[in-house]
Amino acid sequence: MRNSVFAATSTLALLAAVSVSAGPQAEVLHWWTSGGEAKSVAVLQEEFAANGGTWTDMPVAGGGGDAAMTALRARVLSGNAPAAVQLKGPAIQEWFDEGVLADISSVAEAEGWDKVLPASIAAHMKCEGSWCAAPVNVHRVDWLWANAEILSANDIEMPTSWAEFNAAADKLQAAGVIPLAHGGQAWQDATVFEVVALGILGVEGFHKAFVELDPATLTSDKMHAVFDQMRKMRGYVDSNFPGRDWNLATSMVMNGEAAFQIMGDWAKGEFLAAGKVPGEDFLCASAPGNGFLYNVDSFAMFDVDGAEKQDGQALLAKLIVGQNFQKVFNLNKGSIPARVDVNMAEFDSCAHLSAAEMTSSSKEGSLLPSYAHGMALRGAQSGAITDVVTAHFNSDMSSDEAVTMLENAVRNSL
Ligand code: GAL
Repeated sequence: MRNSVFAATSTLALLAAVSVSAGPQAEVLHWWTSGGEAKSVAVLQEEFAANGGTWTDMPVAGGGGDAAMTALRARVLSGNAPAAVQLKGPAIQEWFDEGVLADISSVAEAEGWDKVLPASIAAHMKCEGSWCAAPVNVHRVDWLWANAEILSANDIEMPTSWAEFNAAADKLQAAGVIPLAHGGQAWQDATVFEVVALGILGVEGFHKAFVELDPATLTSDKMHAVFDQMRKMRGYVDSNFPGRDWNLATSMVMNGEAAFQIMGDWAKGEFLAAGKVPGEDFLCASAPGNGFLYNVDSFAMFDVDGAEKQDGQALLAKLIVGQNFQKVFNLNKGSIPARVDVNMAEFDSCAHLSAAEMTSSSKEGSLLPSYAHGMALRGAQSGAITDVVTAHFNSDMSSDEAVTMLENAVRNSL
């Protein structure tokens, strides 16, 4: 009897102890499910756990995050938002306007984020002066990736103009090699389109078209030339491209099935996760043209009830901008750190190129937000542009028709 009373009491004590020590918790919605992406997000999960946190994973597969954003909307509408959400660019402000984001200024101020983040990145993380998101990285979008062996076997250098790219692609095609690995999904079409557009419109033209939505630029001769080049690109992809995931396109370059891919440097995360070495197995170069298209991943915290969840949000925000996480995560993800004081010694040549060109672009005023990755425009406008891009890419629409459609689509989205 004594023993069983004692046993019951100690079980209760244990239960109480367990609930008291449940500690910081966070349900985290993200779309990092490819090989390189999963390795990267695991870094955050591990650091969160090592600091006493309990992570509930909510991965929503789908490159570029369209499916994740649909899942988020459903969760918020049902009054059950996840604690932390991979969210970026103007979408952060859109959710702030809905009144559902938590203010993480106390963490940001305690950790001195203003001192370690470039002002342009910090601006994306603030909503009416308070901090509403934590940045994890800087991805560059305007990259050209190539299989080193295919290029040398065909005596081809990394192209530095679109004319050179076309000449290389024609030569490869004649030799029976798929010139361009591509996945036919709207966001991937948009990625290729904005990289081509940067090269052809130039820095100022890109800004006018995709930040200012200037009608004269959207209907200019140069915009016609952008769609002409997109038609050429369509001719350089294989017939199995529809619906293909971006990381499978990266694998085609890795395995020697295709020569090039145009994709942000999350593609490098895939090469690295497969043990490939930059400069040996694969090559990276900024795509033809000047400027630097940035895509900063970040996490926003949504309003949730309960001290444990709120502690989880604070811990997560603190770790995300912490020096160690910014280094280890970005070594895996293919991006470079968002904070300026991370030691880059362990980063590879592609990351060093990215960091150097980000600094020079910032000085020259040619640092541009990626429209295809939700950094430049709100959803309605970027969606309107992407609909035209993908309709053109997947049909025999002329450049004239595409330009007219683009102008109308943008006007109707405003
Ligand atoms: C981008 C995101 C990257 C990468 C990519 C493919 O929009 O910023 O981190 O995940 O999508 O999923």
